[in-house]
Amino acid sequence: MTRERWRRGEASVPRAFTATLSHPSAVGVPKRRARGVPGAMANTVLLLLVLYVAIYGLRYVVLGQWAWIPMLAASFEMRPRAISLHALGGSVALISGWLQLRPLLRRRWPRVHRGVGWLYVAASLIGGGAGIWLAAHSLGGWVTHVGFGLLGVGAVGASLTTAVLAVRGDQAGHRRWAIRSYALWLSAVTLRLELPLLFAAFGREMGYALVSWMCWAPNVAVAEWLLRRRVRPG
Ligand code: HEM
Repeated sequence: MTRERWRRGEASVPRAFTATLSHPSAVGVPKRRARGVPGAMANTVLLLLVLYVAIYGLRYVVLGQWAWIPMLAASFEMRPRAISLHALGGSVALISGWLQLRPLLRRRWPRVHRGVGWLYVAASLIGGGAGIWLAAHSLGGWVTHVGFGLLGVGAVGASLTTAVLAVRGDQAGHRRWAIRSYALWLSAVTLRLELPLLFAAFGREMGYALVSWMCWAPNVAVAEWLLRRRVRPG
């Protein structure tokens, strides 16, 4: 019943949902976002990084093989569709995920939040599915196959869980898994920040093997820390 009304766009679930977002006693729901100058600066830096990586990924869709980096071109030549779908899905997931975490969008335009949410889930399935496919052929052998593979499975699984919890009306669970899911997608940003440092410190081979795990493990740790820090009883 609730699920049916939610699907029809009637107010009950979204209103309850948006109310809990600012209700400090809701268990499992973040109390208040960081505000003021530091919060705004952090959001702006995150947005710029997300836009940079998303535009970088969309170049792969628009330019095709002209955008491929030489180090991975031979692999992408064998799987051109996988890398295009991956870059498209990943870029859309990054941008739509950033929008989904805006409190203003959730509170004022819950229908837009739902629409963008489905876009995010579709992009996650396409980009993450293609990412798993690429992981099985990634440069670096079994270490990167497993590292990138776990990331892909985690991102797809967390995004699906986020959607299922929203449909069931479990707002607190939905928010927790949305944060986990987006933390995994932000691995594309972490990877591009870490890669030059890891290459410089450990060389290309070891650096690439390390980044296939280190692009997502710290993101998961930070997401879990944020969730635990913000969940306070009563
Ligand atoms: C679930 C998260 C992700 C997984 C599992 C994943 C996995 C991979 C894998 C396995 C490769 C190929 C590496 C190789 O052959 O050695 C790759 C490359 C690539 N991925 Fe992702 N990725 C993820 C997120 C993203 C996101 C969010 C974007 C957004 C733009 C993205 C864009 C790219 C691009 C453009 C490449 C080509 C290599 C480059 O130029 O850096 N990926 N990814």
